[in-house]
Amino acid sequence: MRINKYLALCGVASRRKSEEYVLNGKVSVNGKIINSLATDINLKNDKVELEGKQLSLPSNYVYYKLNKPKGYLCTAKDDRARKTIYDIVKTNERLFSIGRLDYDTEGLIILTNDGDLAHKISHPSHEIEKEYIAKIEGNLLESELAVLRAGVVENGVRMPKARVELIDTVNGDARISVIIHEGQNRQVRRMFEAIGKTIKMLKRVRIGQIKLSGLKRGEFKKLNDYELYSLLGE
Ligand code: URA
Repeated sequence: MRINKYLALCGVASRRKSEEYVLNGKVSVNGKIINSLATDINLKNDKVELEGKQLSLPSNYVYYKLNKPKGYLCTAKDDRARKTIYDIVKTNERLFSIGRLDYDTEGLIILTNDGDLAHKISHPSHEIEKEYIAKIEGNLLESELAVLRAGVVENGVRMPKARVELIDTVNGDARISVIIHEGQNRQVRRMFEAIGKTIKMLKRVRIGQIKLSGLKRGEFKKLNDYELYSLLGE
């Protein structure tokens, strides 16, 4: 992560002002004064000091990953009194979700009270990979895979390209891995609808480098350091 971004995250000052600190020789990395704004900080190993005072990322931010079960909304409230993910993750912090999942979709959600990060990572311009496993009714032909990969056309508009691989076929139903960058509303479901396929199960298994693996349905836990660093560095 660039030094000015790191300093700003530590609450030192804005990125711009942080650059001035660097250029004025007030910042050291592992004991050496640095003057270059191109300095990259390794969040795991580097010791960064401002005028001799060691910096650290603020600890009042929390970051969780949740395995959202099907049948839960990602909104804070629902006028039809349906269950939401905040019925599962009950904490004192005001949490934002990074990338929503629709009611019928299960899998990985990241929750944080770091509103800036949630906003930034959720933004479509931020090309973070999201991987889904879709189970569809029936088989999928190679020609249909090719259509999904190229971007299906919906109402005359081409949807974004996707990385799509057939995993296997169990009892006649195909399981497919779908990797997308954008977060258009119901994007994966709409892709399969466009080729006339019915989704039986849709699960998000990865956001960037953060994986769902190890979390049971309805379970949540704090991101580990590796996961957190990968997210902050995105
Ligand atoms: N695509 C969908 O169709 N649904 C989701 O919840 C996420 C991606």
